[in-house]
Amino acid sequence: MGLFLGLIITLAAVVAYSWYVTLQVAGLRALQSNLVDRNRKDSLQLLRIQDDLNSLALAMRDMLDNDEPYPLTAWSSQFQRIRTDLDDALQKEQQLGVTRRTPEQSRYLESSLSQFWDATDRTFSLARDGKEKDARDQIRLTLQARQSALGTAVARLLVENNESEELAAKQVAAIYDRVQRQAYIFLGATLTAILLTSLYLIRSNRRLFAQLAALSNQRSELAQQLISTQESTLRYISRELHDEFGQILTAVGSMLGRAEKHAPEGSPLRTELREVNEIAQATLDNVRTLSQALHPVMLDESGLEGTVDWYIPTVEKQNGIVIHYEKSGTPYAMNGGSGVHVYRILQEALNNVARHSGAKESWVRLRFRPEALELEIEDHGRGFSAPAAKPGIGLVAMRERAELLHGTIQFTRHAQGGTLVRLRVPRERQETNAE
Ligand SMILES: Nc1ncnc2c1ncn2[C@@H]1O[C@H](COP(=O)(O)OP(=O)(O)OP(=O)(O)O)[C@@H](O)[C@H]1O
Ligand SMILES: [Mg+2]
Repeated sequence: MGLFLGLIITLAAVVAYSWYVTLQVAGLRALQSNLVDRNRKDSLQLLRIQDDLNSLALAMRDMLDNDEPYPLTAWSSQFQRIRTDLDDALQKEQQLGVTRRTPEQSRYLESSLSQFWDATDRTFSLARDGKEKDARDQIRLTLQARQSALGTAVARLLVENNESEELAAKQVAAIYDRVQRQAYIFLGATLTAILLTSLYLIRSNRRLFAQLAALSNQRSELAQQLISTQESTLRYISRELHDEFGQILTAVGSMLGRAEKHAPEGSPLRTELREVNEIAQATLDNVRTLSQALHPVMLDESGLEGTVDWYIPTVEKQNGIVIHYEKSGTPYAMNGGSGVHVYRILQEALNNVARHSGAKESWVRLRFRPEALELEIEDHGRGFSAPAAKPGIGLVAMRERAELLHGTIQFTRHAQGGTLVRLRVPRERQETNAE
């Protein structure tokens, strides 16, 4: 749940930030195209107007210059040309500057200009009528003044344009600053969210693993407890069978033997007594075999080594496989409770060889090393393949028994194919290991 939340927060932060940045960039673009570009174009037109006004000023100066041989009317066409250009420039300028200009400003420029042209027309008409002197007075008194007023107005507009350009630059810088600041904040927030999510993930994983480990331990403990209980129960039953019933059957047998001797020779009673005695003997054998199968009493009497010596030929006969048995090292006594686990592992491994490997031969090696006891069961059969449809508990029990012995058990694929089971039980732990 926390993980999900962390993910949502991180994603939401990314989406929100992307949206914010897009918005800021769009604003920036609008500012650039609406303001800065228009401003620049507008300034160009204003400069053009200023140029034209300067040309007019120069022309008027020349007209007033008395050295000029031409009559005033000669300037008429030049004025006309400048007028056309000026009109065009003014029209374009007003389109560009319309957004920022007050109506008074626009009107002022236009009306000043038209007044200027009216005065010019009047001046030229005076000149055409031959009143050169009046015309010159007109230029000096009216036209030059109007021209310079126009020049001032245009210069002021240019300054205004510059100022607004500076303002726009400041706005752009402010946007950049803001975006940068937000980027840091966003980065910080996202990193925090990621950090918190990761911490949560680590913590919940740790908790999960701890639970898993605890469960696994419990399971293992339970299995080992069950194995121990099973062994002690089997041992008890095996003892009872061997001692109690063995004893009784032995006693019954010897009593029957004595009774048989007392019965007259050749009598049917004697024959029947012998038959009953034989049955008692067979039952005694069965009880002993059963007792041995449940728990080899031999383990307690002649130790692990003796039990294995007896068991190998027995299992060869039972399962019909040839077992090559090797024994090395000086045998040492194992505590009874430990011996039975080694014995059961051998039993299960050999049963598996007979049931699953398909091999007819097996190698059993029992080594009493100074530091540990080693038991190997090897076959050259088909080896471990895909897991069985219905998994058994043989391997699991073998592992648990190895654990009970504080030893290790390995199941490896043998080089020549087949399986190698290797059990190793450290000797020093072995002595302290009670049932
Ligand atoms: N020596 C072997 N060669 C080939 N396959 C083996 C050998 N030993 C075990 N296996 C495979 O491992 C599987 C598990 O063995 P395990 O002893 O745990 O179960 P099982 O023998 O099928 O049943 P259970 O032992 O509980 O009666 C077997 O089903 C078999 O496929
Ligand atoms: Mg098995």
